[in-house]
Amino acid sequence: MTEHLTIVTHPLVQHKLTLMRQKETSTAVFRQLLREISQLLAYEVTRGLPMTSRVIETPLMEMEAPVLAGRKLALISILRAGNGLLDGMLELIPSARVGFIGLYRDEETLQPVKYYFKVPDQLGQRLSIVVDPMLATGNSSVAAISMLKEAGARDLRFLCLLAAPEGVARMREAHPDVPVVTAALDERLNEKGYILPGLGDAGDRMFGTK
Ligand code: URA
Repeated sequence: MTEHLTIVTHPLVQHKLTLMRQKETSTAVFRQLLREISQLLAYEVTRGLPMTSRVIETPLMEMEAPVLAGRKLALISILRAGNGLLDGMLELIPSARVGFIGLYRDEETLQPVKYYFKVPDQLGQRLSIVVDPMLATGNSSVAAISMLKEAGARDLRFLCLLAAPEGVARMREAHPDVPVVTAALDERLNEKGYILPGLGDAGDRMFGTK
């Protein structure tokens, strides 16, 4: 991937995203749409993965056929909303290794603090795709990626559903080597750090909490 920001403009992605944004969309439908959209986004974020080939036999003859090269890739979910993207992606990439990063915001420093970190081994030899539906201020995404780099990750991509210009700029500044893939680039953040027009709190909407 060469672009820092890729917006997936595919009609199915855009249509599903509109349904997800609507406030009357139920928790069950929201979760189902997120699952569907995550597979379409997974298709895009894995574009250009390195390939190799192996000799196989079809019922008719031998051929040299393309297969993915290298170690199994790592999907890293930023808790808790990242899990909404994870399920659908794992259906498409069932052999992926999975990691979780839990962060909370220190109310005094406003900085993200790690409370959980469990990731696959040999990150230095895998592509890591970090997933979090909302790239808002970028604080937690930037922190999560820094932690993964400290753990040895070198090849990273970031996948979200919605991005705010502020979050994209922060990611570009902190991690210019990490491509960002999103379904939409919204207008801005409000004073509470929510994306406008956005879809509200992604975790609350997918888990039915408030
Ligand atoms: N997190 C969310 O869930 N929604 C936003 O709009 C911003 C951050």
